[in-house]
Amino acid sequence: MAGTARAQAAPETGGGIVVLDFGSQYTQLIARRIREQNVFSLILPCNTPLEEIAALKPDGIVLSGGPSSVYDPDAPRCDPKVLELGRPVLGICYGLQWIAHQLGGRVERAERREYGPAELKVEGASLLLAGLPPRLKIWNSHGDHIVALPPGFRVVGMTSNAIAAAENPSREIYAVQFHPEVRHTDRGTELLRNFVLGICRAQASWNPRSFVAKTVEEIGTRVGPKRRAACALSGGVDSTVAATLVHRALGDRLISIFVNNGLLRRNEFDSTLALLRQRLGLKVVGVDAARRFLAELRGVIDPEEKRRRIGALFVRVFEEEARKLGQVDFLVQGTLYPDVIESVSVRGPSATIKTHHNVGGLPPDMQFQLMEPLRELFKDEVRRIGRELALPDVVLKRQPFPGPGLAVRVLGEVTPDRLETLRAADEIVYQEVRQAGLYEKLWQAFAVLLPVRSVGVMGDQRSYAHVVAVRAVESEDGMTADWARLPTELLERLSARIVNEVPGVNRVVYDVSSKPPSTIEWE
Ligand code: XMP
Repeated sequence: MAGTARAQAAPETGGGIVVLDFGSQYTQLIARRIREQNVFSLILPCNTPLEEIAALKPDGIVLSGGPSSVYDPDAPRCDPKVLELGRPVLGICYGLQWIAHQLGGRVERAERREYGPAELKVEGASLLLAGLPPRLKIWNSHGDHIVALPPGFRVVGMTSNAIAAAENPSREIYAVQFHPEVRHTDRGTELLRNFVLGICRAQASWNPRSFVAKTVEEIGTRVGPKRRAACALSGGVDSTVAATLVHRALGDRLISIFVNNGLLRRNEFDSTLALLRQRLGLKVVGVDAARRFLAELRGVIDPEEKRRRIGALFVRVFEEEARKLGQVDFLVQGTLYPDVIESVSVRGPSATIKTHHNVGGLPPDMQFQLMEPLRELFKDEVRRIGRELALPDVVLKRQPFPGPGLAVRVLGEVTPDRLETLRAADEIVYQEVRQAGLYEKLWQAFAVLLPVRSVGVMGDQRSYAHVVAVRAVESEDGMTADWARLPTELLERLSARIVNEVPGVNRVVYDVSSKPPSTIEWE
């Protein structure tokens, strides 16, 4: 078995840790915690063919948790031979149950899920739990539980009513019922470190520098000496980091296309083009398609219809420009990890790995091969890579900006006049928030032009003019957000400046809604 396999030929290692996903909401966290140890980690759907896993030369394998019961007729499973690859395995939650079920232990169906905190009592010596205190707080989220371990396994941790950790050191199989990857488990990171660095002896060599070197080399090899790539640049962090990486490998055989859709902030097209070309040395074609976008948006009020039209026209413009470039073989996109993997990947690789096209649905006759150098990274890791590539803070610390741009902040119809009004207000928000030293602390801060008018009085004149809403939020990832408690002096300045300096606006309101139930953008 595993021991024999190893005796015959030690498997090649150095590929980091492969996490096989059984569908847990925490799978991405496992990969992240491993990378925090500077060890590369990759998530694959649990049913990935064994040869594919072996080809990665993993140092170790983690089997994730998942919502199923091993007794479900369509219970997710992986190739049982992953337990015989000669590499250490760590099963977490469902991973533990699957191992036990597979190797002849007994798993019992639960009446109800056990969810929440519990206390772990460490029992006896264990490599996995080495250095941890005899009792610690852990986080459970499981249905079934183990009532009998497979032969050769021993219990190394108990909660008050269940086996919580078990191992078979001679086969190098380790398993826990709880979730070491969540912050609610005390010392969970240490447990994972014991597995990754201690048991698997993985090299702690994954860092931005090694990632850049490895990726640049891989891109060079993949593209070869002659072929070319195109990239749709927005000036945001993801696409700029992706383009800079590919540029290191291909030089001017990477041509980036930056489209002015007429929905950018004031001066953004020119200043971003200058930054990309002069400061970053990228070869960028700037396409001014503002008129076409505004024509496409004429009379459109529905937010989703705005998005659809902007997306479709973007693809057309990009396609036209790419055709002018002659033969282009690759399309570079700044796709990130959360876009790629969804934890439902238990249904199989094809059904589940969602390639998120930043560029939208490209026509099939474009014959590009996709190149997504950041597809294994989280946002904060992309920033670290960007820093390694010496990208300036104006790129790395830029607040997110939606693809449909100001169209989703001009509520109602998007017209040149209304865009100008919003741009003027938006610029004031940007200046004042920066001035107050809050730009980098806030996830986003921006102005919204409302589709209503209100009565005011200016001088002796009654006015009937536009309303601007100011939105500022704090957020970790944009999935949830809290409205920012901006200093009242700042709000006062924003209001005074917008009403005084932006023609046609006589009222400013501050948005005090969080997400959920509101969204960050108004449309
Ligand atoms: P919401 O408004 O959904 O926004 O709370 C969450 C984050 O996503 C951005 N956003 C978009 N980005 N295309 C994009 O590229 C879009 O259509 C879009 N809509 C919202 C938003 O700015 C926020 O950071």
